[in-house]
Amino acid sequence: MTPFGAAGTGSVQVPGSKSHTNRALLCAALAEGTSRLSGVLFADDTKAMLGAIKSLGVEVEENPSELTLEITGLGGRPRLNESVIDCRSSGTTSRFLLPVLATGHGPATLDGSQQLRSRPFAEQIAALRSLGCSLEETAAQGGLPIKIQADGLAGGEVEITADTSSQFVSGLLMAAPLCDEGLTLKLLGTPVSRPYIDMTIEVMRDFGIEVTNLDESTYVVPPSGYRATALEIEPDATAASYFFGAAVITQGKVRVDGLDERSIQGDIQFVSVLEDLGAKVTWGDRFIEVEGDHIGGGSFDLRHFSDTAQTLAAVAAFADSEVEITGIGFIRAKETNRLTAMTTELSKCGVEIIEKPDGLLVRPNKWLLRGATINTYDDHRMAMSMSLLGLRVPRMEVLDPDCVNKTFPEFFDRLEELRPRAQERSGVTSVIAIDGPAGSGKSTVAQRLAAELHLPHFDTGAMYRAVAVAAVRAGVDIEDADAVTKLARETNIEIHERILIDGVDATEDIRSADANQMVSVVAANTQVRQVLVPRQREWATSLGGGVMEGRDIGTEVFPDALLKVFLTADLSIRAERRFNESSEQTLESVLEDLKRRDQIDSTRQDSPLLVAPGAIIFDSSGLSIEDVVSDLATIFRGLVAG
Ligand code: DC
Repeated sequence: MTPFGAAGTGSVQVPGSKSHTNRALLCAALAEGTSRLSGVLFADDTKAMLGAIKSLGVEVEENPSELTLEITGLGGRPRLNESVIDCRSSGTTSRFLLPVLATGHGPATLDGSQQLRSRPFAEQIAALRSLGCSLEETAAQGGLPIKIQADGLAGGEVEITADTSSQFVSGLLMAAPLCDEGLTLKLLGTPVSRPYIDMTIEVMRDFGIEVTNLDESTYVVPPSGYRATALEIEPDATAASYFFGAAVITQGKVRVDGLDERSIQGDIQFVSVLEDLGAKVTWGDRFIEVEGDHIGGGSFDLRHFSDTAQTLAAVAAFADSEVEITGIGFIRAKETNRLTAMTTELSKCGVEIIEKPDGLLVRPNKWLLRGATINTYDDHRMAMSMSLLGLRVPRMEVLDPDCVNKTFPEFFDRLEELRPRAQERSGVTSVIAIDGPAGSGKSTVAQRLAAELHLPHFDTGAMYRAVAVAAVRAGVDIEDADAVTKLARETNIEIHERILIDGVDATEDIRSADANQMVSVVAANTQVRQVLVPRQREWATSLGGGVMEGRDIGTEVFPDALLKVFLTADLSIRAERRFNESSEQTLESVLEDLKRRDQIDSTRQDSPLLVAPGAIIFDSSGLSIEDVVSDLATIFRGLVAG
């Protein structure tokens, strides 16, 4: 992946909701008459449901380019004919279908991919057996494949444990009107993903079925028949979460069309989490817009919208403080063990993340982020969430990206649409801002990048160093803030091939161990900064921009820089680099020195060294200068290209 290098902006059309589509497909398949669905998702999971209902004899007219479907339903219970129904990797298809098959007549086998075979079905099997259905697991207990010998369901009362998947409940609810006596459903345990149960009830209502909620955990469905209808599928709120995440991570502004707070999808609550973290949200009429600001921290219970947990964990990698995600132990039984998978893959990227029994704890430190090769475990949500890191971290490689076909075949194209282009951005300064701690390779990278791109190079650190040397030469106490400021104002500093202080060469002096010691004090002097920062702006502006390095270029000097980079490297590697440059100190003392300077630079009151909003975070630890320069040149050229 190639990082954005600046704020991602734009409007995105996300595909239809998988959950909404698959519910509507099944209800339409059972209905009397012809239903017309628009805004339909065409992806692996919905193709699984489509294939299944067709194999039951449902007539389907597909128009994928228009995103519509016409479905002529069975008008009642299905007749089974020994067919093997392949649910592929679709949890919804399999869990929705099994109880519906049970209301029919005849033999059938429900099966799916290896991945689906390892997901749980035991709760639903138990519930159906208690209703008198004959089911046989032909491989592992509690899983697919399941052979069913259906002979209708009398119905009555049934209990179902709902603390691993709400899909068990949704399936039984959709089968309920086809039971002779209807069904009274009692939920055991603390149900997860309740909004999905509400969505099921909503869609059933669209198809003419009333579900009564006796109390928190009891649903009553009288015997009845589905009636065909015309239904518009909502855009997928989970799919939208990645784009809202992109806005927040790159500190950009992204609008998703077709969704608003009236959505029947619980995952819309993810937007409120982003709002709590600091994002600005516009809840529009048929659109939601998220504008990234700083990302704070906090603790969030995602029990009812757990499909966005991976998105949140990816966002948390860029947060300013700890982010805790709770209530989601059950997502271990999704496409993969999502808690372990996310912990493993984020750790590879330098994120401190702890897997807890019921969630994740992320302790972010942007300085330590680095690109990695990401395994996706055949989980579309691993691919989509982890790719968000690639918007700001170079050298991210996402393996098996096609796994997004499960719910969002065009995901990566849609994400590309948010990539910033220089000519579409107003008020940008043609500056490449390179900030980072000492020893991160900033100076060499900035110089070489400037040469490579034929742009001027500006070393702002040299300005602060020159003031320190000027103070020594003038016998001014470095701690005397006013005197040093006066000096900064009155001294003529020229930074070209050589560095001249009032015409006297100081090229070597400004790099001495003494200067190293004093410069942090100079740089922490607010008044000195007030003198030097405007000079730095003038300097770059007068030459039409270029590559400028320092500590506060992206945050303070040119916050609207065309490309912002935060260059980092492991502390030990930075120390080694500094040690190799000069033999005045031992490695040990260089390391101590760096630690001290990191501390002063990043905690000082004025213009601390921070990762600028939206800046690329580039860890140069294992890389050659050439690698870093060539990556940055590519990113820059991408930004200015048409
Ligand atoms: O990059 P360098 O080591 O030459 O920087 C010298 C010092 O100046 C260092 O302590 C950080 C500080 N500095 C700063 O505060 N702001 C800048 N824009 C550049 C450097």
